[in-house]
Amino acid sequence: MQNAFKTIAQEDISYFNSILPSDVYTDDDALKTYSHDETEDISILPSVVLKPNSGEEISSILKYCSENSICVTPSGARTGLSGGSIPSHGGVALSMEKFNKILSIDENNNQVTTEPGVITQILQEAVKEKGLFYPPDPASKGSCFIGGNVAENSGGPKAVKYGVTNEYVLNLEVVLPTGEIIWTGANVLKNATGYNLTQLLIGSEGTLGIITKIVLKLIPHPTHDLLMLVPFFSSDAACKSVAALFKNGITPSGIEFMERDALIWTRDFLNDNSIEIKDTHAAHLLIEVDGFDPEKLMDECSKIVEVLEDFETDEILFAESQAQKDKLWKLRRSVGEAVKANSIYKEEDTVVPRYELPTLLKQVKRIGKKYGFKSVCYGHAGDGNLHINIIKGDLSDDQWNNQLPIAIRELFEEVVNLGGTLSGEHGIGLVQKQYMDIPFSEKSLDLMRSIKTVFDPKGILNPGKIF
Ligand code: LAC
Ligand code: ZN
Repeated sequence: MQNAFKTIAQEDISYFNSILPSDVYTDDDALKTYSHDETEDISILPSVVLKPNSGEEISSILKYCSENSICVTPSGARTGLSGGSIPSHGGVALSMEKFNKILSIDENNNQVTTEPGVITQILQEAVKEKGLFYPPDPASKGSCFIGGNVAENSGGPKAVKYGVTNEYVLNLEVVLPTGEIIWTGANVLKNATGYNLTQLLIGSEGTLGIITKIVLKLIPHPTHDLLMLVPFFSSDAACKSVAALFKNGITPSGIEFMERDALIWTRDFLNDNSIEIKDTHAAHLLIEVDGFDPEKLMDECSKIVEVLEDFETDEILFAESQAQKDKLWKLRRSVGEAVKANSIYKEEDTVVPRYELPTLLKQVKRIGKKYGFKSVCYGHAGDGNLHINIIKGDLSDDQWNNQLPIAIRELFEEVVNLGGTLSGEHGIGLVQKQYMDIPFSEKSLDLMRSIKTVFDPKGILNPGKIF
């Protein structure tokens, strides 16, 4: 949807001031802060930043913006990796940071009702105090907002056993672009009542409405976990072992793949030399099992070791303390940041059926060779979700800007041929939308555009995202 949006004028600022007397920002620092998320090096300034405090205020703002064709980009903690919160058309950046309260933890029904601007890890810790577990744990869990997780349908390492965000969202309060406030569902575990608006909103990347309350399902928190780091002499063996573990009935609570460079760059980035990476180590798997019975977990670990005997592994490191577990997880969670610190890069969030992971990795390297780019790969191997960081390194600007999109297109075509798709958990946002014709027919894209128009007839909410 290409719209001509109104340039924000003094009369608009005056209106915003009348709704939010002390929460309207036009200073350079604020505009700059809300011009980017964690996506590559992209930055586009909004004209104004608004920080509303209530659904009613958001309703007034959106109603006004719809009536005046002013575009609005919702903004959470800005940790996204597909540019969903970049105000690509200028206009209003609508920050949800004041919606930072956990409203209630319902121990009778194992549910939590929260505002969207709560940091995911804070929510997890609050429910853990009651013995409850909210599993989705994106790498940025210490800084991302739960609302952003819902908007992007975030995953993380635990998704392999527990599923991604959408499996936990029961109900949402949403302000529509036209100003009405709705609830999408009910606070129930089963719901066969009409179209599933809750699931439609999840992963809609702030294009259909502004989420103001979230009701999440919780489960009992596991009491024990074990963690091991497995070095492999070939990346292919590491990838192949993943499906073999599942075939043998093992469901780890995390099974993370890291290519040699991913681990070395992160070790150097964190200045953490506690792990020996031999010259012969091509890749590692970080494998976690969790549950309630320590003996069962030991059995599971023995079974994992037994299955891995068929693959070319070196000596397995078992974490012996919570501190060592924390260190290993920190290494894994910091890979993205380490790559970012190392070079200009582009990140792809490919996902294929798990068994195809070895083929995907081979295709990445083949295409890299063909187009002359280096890639550092890591990710959620058990979900077939491979994060491919393409490194600019010595590539010329022409190669980077003009050749690379052709290479990425070829890569996505291979991914779709393998039964996969463009993004497992980072979303499409701004940076992947040019590839949406690969997984979807024109008819499917038309359906999505029509849905967008029903919710947002003026196309003011997060324009230029997804398609
Ligand atoms: C991770 C983020 C980048 O898995 O999704 O580290
Ligand atoms: Zn990830």
